[in-house]
Amino acid sequence: MNLKAKTFFVCSECGYRSSKWLGRCPECDSWNTFEEETVLPEPKEKSRLKPAPGGENIALPLSQISSDANLRITSGMAELDRVLGGGLVRGSAVLLSGEPGIGKSTLLLQISGSIAAKRRVLYISGEESPGQIRLRAERLGVRSDNLLVLAETSLDTSLKQIDDLCPEVIVVDSIQTLRTSEAASTPGSVTQVRECASQLITLAKSRGVAVIMVGHVNKEGGIAGPKVLEHMVDAVLCFEGEHRHAYRIIRASKNRFGSVSELGVFEMTAAGLREVPNPSEALLAGRPKNVSGSCAVCVIEGTRPIIAEIQSLASPTVFPSPRRTATGFDYSRLCMLLAVLEKRIGLRFSGSDVYLNIVGGLEIDEPAADLPTALALISCIKDIPVDAGLIAVGEIGLAGEVRAVPMLESRVREAERLGFTKIIVPARGSELGSIKAESIKLAPVKSVFEAMEAALGG
Ligand code: TYD
Ligand code: MG
Repeated sequence: MNLKAKTFFVCSECGYRSSKWLGRCPECDSWNTFEEETVLPEPKEKSRLKPAPGGENIALPLSQISSDANLRITSGMAELDRVLGGGLVRGSAVLLSGEPGIGKSTLLLQISGSIAAKRRVLYISGEESPGQIRLRAERLGVRSDNLLVLAETSLDTSLKQIDDLCPEVIVVDSIQTLRTSEAASTPGSVTQVRECASQLITLAKSRGVAVIMVGHVNKEGGIAGPKVLEHMVDAVLCFEGEHRHAYRIIRASKNRFGSVSELGVFEMTAAGLREVPNPSEALLAGRPKNVSGSCAVCVIEGTRPIIAEIQSLASPTVFPSPRRTATGFDYSRLCMLLAVLEKRIGLRFSGSDVYLNIVGGLEIDEPAADLPTALALISCIKDIPVDAGLIAVGEIGLAGEVRAVPMLESRVREAERLGFTKIIVPARGSELGSIKAESIKLAPVKSVFEAMEAALGG
């Protein structure tokens, strides 16, 4: 047997291996991503993990596999449980990714605190000292003797502790800081991340422990490390949000035990993350009345309708080519809407700077937001306020026609629930006939001109 260690080069973006250093990865075309890695010869006994209680692994018919009703562990945060598909699944591995400072450690410490009320939780941190974690826990009001904190970067030491402590939930903050002696490269390198994750996942499956790992993101926003990491885990959750705004969104980009269309909304406060079970209400709070340039919009995030406010402002320009600024909205979509309004309704925006903002830091990329955006722009240039009880949904085509949008009924229901009295909807749409609305009036329109008349009275 050849016991010599082998050296090769690995792309840190996609995990492509090469025997020599390359400037550009032939697999993913990234530049300067090759790192040298040394692989030790395969140890005889690859894993130190004990086999599952009950002895050897044998194949069973589905009907004989017990489905434990107690399989899910609630995280104590309904918004997170919703994204997970009903709670953490025992024996599963979850990867939580997000930009630095978004609140990953805060969230995990908070849920560790609530899970520890009933079960033993091990929080392994390679990023903070026990003292720092304690300070943060005090701030967050987390105190439980069932929550054990281990500041450690060695996976081997952590595994020994896991053996001794038998926790039901393990949190690893972060997978990039762990290292194992079974791979001979620096922490955070492709081989180390893959090896550590693989050992943790094996542990989760064999012992029925739920493992949550934090994964850092690279400059493009993807999870740093090998792409295979995402394939290895059972669920990948992405923590998103603007740092300057309080709202944070968690969505699943992969989930073996639930839908990927759910999302959870949180707010960062001085006492940690707070759930926002009713995001529409929160986003509409403090909405100014009788001010031109504002219109309410209902977008679908996952399967959830969320109502937000679009604000626009047009002011005479001093520049040869007027400025257009869009926050939370697609810039080219704004330019297209301005062109449609200018050409089809004859409203002149070419002499004005136009600013568009989605209140609350929400990012909207749904065509259904076209019509409310157009109404906000029309209201602003005409200086006539849109009624506060009015909301609109619809996609606008280049001819100024209003096109159907999906999930119209749930948008109408959400608008009704929040007390809106009139909703402008596309006249074309298969759902329209079946919607029964009581306290809200449906105003179907075929074109943006008709919408303008319905909203502002011509
Ligand atoms: P953190 O959880 O450390 O982020 P991550 O682990 O994703 O890098 O969160 C850091 C930010 O959260 C920090 O900028 C301060 C803010 N924060 C609060 O606003 N309130 C709090 O109670 C805590 C603990 C953090
Ligand atoms: Mg952190």
